[in-house]
Formats: sequence, structure tokens, C-alpha cells
Amino acid sequence: MKNWKYFSFVLLFCIACSFENNLPVEKERIKQAAQQLRYALELAEPLRDSVWVSPRTIENGKLKLVKSSDWTSGFFPGNLWMMYEITGDDFWKEEAIKYTLPLKKEQWNAGTHDMGFKMFCSFGKAYGNTNNTEYRDILIQSAKTLATRFNPRVGCIRSWDHNADKWDFPVIIDNMMNLELLLWAAKESGENYLKDIAVTHAYTTLKNHFRDDNSSYHVVDYNPETGEIQNKHTHQGYAHESSWARGQAWGLYGFTMMYRETGNKDFLVQAEKIADFLLKKEGIKKGVIPYWDFDAPNIPNEPLDASAGAIMASAFFDLAQLAENGQVYLDVSDKLFNTLSAGKFFAPVGENKGFLLMHSTGHKPHNSEIDVPIVYADYYYLELLNKRSKLISN
Ligand code: GLY
Repeated sequence: MKNWKYFSFVLLFCIACSFENNLPVEKERIKQAAQQLRYALELAEPLRDSVWVSPRTIENGKLKLVKSSDWTSGFFPGNLWMMYEITGDDFWKEEAIKYTLPLKKEQWNAGTHDMGFKMFCSFGKAYGNTNNTEYRDILIQSAKTLATRFNPRVGCIRSWDHNADKWDFPVIIDNMMNLELLLWAAKESGENYLKDIAVTHAYTTLKNHFRDDNSSYHVVDYNPETGEIQNKHTHQGYAHESSWARGQAWGLYGFTMMYRETGNKDFLVQAEKIADFLLKKEGIKKGVIPYWDFDAPNIPNEPLDASAGAIMASAFFDLAQLAENGQVYLDVSDKLFNTLSAGKFFAPVGENKGFLLMHSTGHKPHNSEIDVPIVYADYYYLELLNKRSKLISN
């Protein structure tokens, strides 16, 4: 135990030292992110109304805003809250509140599993930065609404209701990301059943979503009456047996978060298994941003997915602070961060319709959002930038 504490201390010291050397990059990107998000606000403001509330991507050359019910609606307000957290400038707080409040009604939307993405990224950051109890109550209600989608026979929260002709009870690897809201709400409210649901969901996913090489399926479809597995499919990946890049990133982030929040070693072991799978990819190890699917048929002539790279970079950073193998994970996080921070991915200020990163891919099989900026790539990049700058200033 003593050794472990010493090791953690040394690792944190190394992390801080390695950032000292790179400080100009961090500072520069924060400054550019501020300029770029101000530009995004200028472009979004005239398009924003009571229905279209949050920028998501560029479509046909135009900035595309989404409704509050869209799974991505929480990321833009989250980005504004992170700018407030980083800079302490009240300008960002005011803008963040403006883009957060229109999502309030989603606390009652039981039609999807995306509650964590929508509410924890927006109201979660709002509460973290203000301690306003109105935001806390909204989050607790959001968690309770999400919990209504849990089926104890399956041991999972149901992800989607669409494609009912194909699946009876689809659970996607992305769903791991919605569990943090449940764990937080259990702690805040004392409603322990919310934590039980999160832990059960994670265990069922651990058991059923992974292949022998520790890559994951995108969709596992269950029989809601018996809990039996009916199909293992993909929806956004290349093929049922391929490894959709963002799915691997959600898994890495999700299991790392589950270990951080529960201290349950099984989740750490799973996060490290996913990390092993990713680090066997020479590209990832060197900090190269992945193609949209690791098994896409026409590599190297396939679109990249910067969002997968940003999610992985942020997750590897967290895992570095939790695992004995921390330095290896920190190295890959640093490399991915540096790649995303360089000219190929980080857009020049005043371009890219105010998004920070270029070259993400949303849904290739549907021919949708291919090689474009997408708001959640910016969110996980900014999250990492925020974590790195906090470490520097501590
Ligand atoms: N959660 C949906 C996606 O990653 O595209």
C-alpha cells in the first residue's frame, strides 16, 4: 500500500513535470479555444430559438443546431462551462446558462438512454460550477428517469427504442457513458438503487459486450423477458464483427470512470483490457487518430474519427492516474493530445464554424457526418485540456 502511494506521488510529479515543458501548447490552445467558441456563439445566436438549441456539426456548409432531445445537445453548453472553469470569466458562465436551461425538460424524457450525455455534460457542469440546487434537483430527476429504462431480467438499461423490427432490447457500448449520472445522483440523493443499476449494467456489459481480443460489439440485443442474448450487431460500425473506433473509446472511458467512481477492481481490469486492445494498434500507440472503424475495408482511404481520438485521449489520461501501468497510458494520452492540438486537426481561429477540431465521423454506414467537425470531439478535447491545465496550476 505504502509503495502504491509512493508510486502515485511519483507519477503525479512526472505528469506535472511533463506538462511544465509543454505549457505553451496548453496555454495557446486555451486562448484559441476561447476565441473559437466566441466565434461559435456569434454564428449560433441568430440560428438559436426555442426549438433549435445547441450546435452539433456542419451540414451542407452550414452550422447545424439540434433540439434538446438530440443526444448531443449537452456538449455545447458543457464546452461553455469548461471555458468558465478554465478562465473564471463570467462571460462564459452567462453564455453557459443560456445554452443549458433549454435542456431542462429533458429530465422527464424517458424515451432514450442518452440522459447522461445530455444532462450530465450540461447541468452536471452547471452544478459543479455554481452549486445551484435547482441544477442538482434537475440532475437527480434525470437519473431517476433514466433508471426507468432498466430491466432487471436483462441487467441493463435499454439504449434505444428505434429499429424495433431489428432489436427487442438493444444495449450499446455507448451506454456506459450514461452511468456516471446515476452514480453521482446516488451519492447526492442517497437513492442507492441508482448506483445498483449502474453497477449491474456495467457488469452485464463486461460479460456480454466484449470479444476474446477485448474489442467490443456495438449493439447487444437481449430478450427482455428472459435476458438471453439474441444478437450481437453493429449500427454505426463497418460490420457486426468489426471494431467501431468510437465504440472502443466509449468502453475505455466508461470502465475507467466506473472504477474511479466505485473503486471496484473488476472495472479497472476491464479498462486495462480495452487499453491493451487499443495499444496493440501501432497507430494509437504513436498517437495517430484512428479511422472511423479499425476494420474499415479501404484503409488508408477511409475517413478518420477525431472524436474517437479525443475520447480515448481523455480516458487514457484518467486511467494513467488509477492504474499501476500509468506511465504507458499517460504517454499515449499525451501523444493523442499533441496530434489533436496540431494543425491537421485543430482548426484555425475563425474557420470551421467555430468548432475546435476537424475530421470526425458520426455515422458512416448512414452516410452521415463524414469527415466533419462534431461538437462531442471538442467536448472531450476541452475536457482533457481542462484536466491538464488544472494539474499544471496545482
Ligand atoms: N452515442 C452515439 C455515438 O457515439 O455516435
